[in-house]
Amino acid sequence: MSDVKQSSELFELAKDAMNKAYVPYSRFHVGAAILTAGGKIYSGCNVENAAYPEGTCAEAGAIASMVLGGDTLIKDIYVIGKGEELVTPCGGCRQKIREFSSVDTMIHICGAEGVRKSLTMNELLPFSFGPENLE
Ligand code: THU
Repeated sequence: MSDVKQSSELFELAKDAMNKAYVPYSRFHVGAAILTAGGKIYSGCNVENAAYPEGTCAEAGAIASMVLGGDTLIKDIYVIGKGEELVTPCGGCRQKIREFSSVDTMIHICGAEGVRKSLTMNELLPFSFGPENLE
């Protein structure tokens, strides 16, 4: 599969996930799609809760699905939200992505028209704490 095709497939998957978000409180839909180092694909959406802090982010949903699928290394993650602003992963999600990242991991921030910005893990979360710290 060509990189261009894979990129558009991941973008579309993230968009489909965004449209399925359960967001009765914020009404802010977010979707995420992961391509693993081994070529597998997982997605997730944000799921809110009447007890507000119990809501979960789209990235967390995609990561949970990835781990359930037996994968632990993210090559690319696409994150999409609505509006003009860059929908960058929240602080907690940066750390969650970091757990499953390498120097090759890319985070692609998308809007309705496609990818708006692509960042390395180190750009998104510099001087990060990770599994290596505990070795
Ligand atoms: N949200 C995500 O799903 N991912 C992020 O990284 C930023 C925020 C969700 C959480 C909440 O359901 C809504 O966006 C508004 O904060």
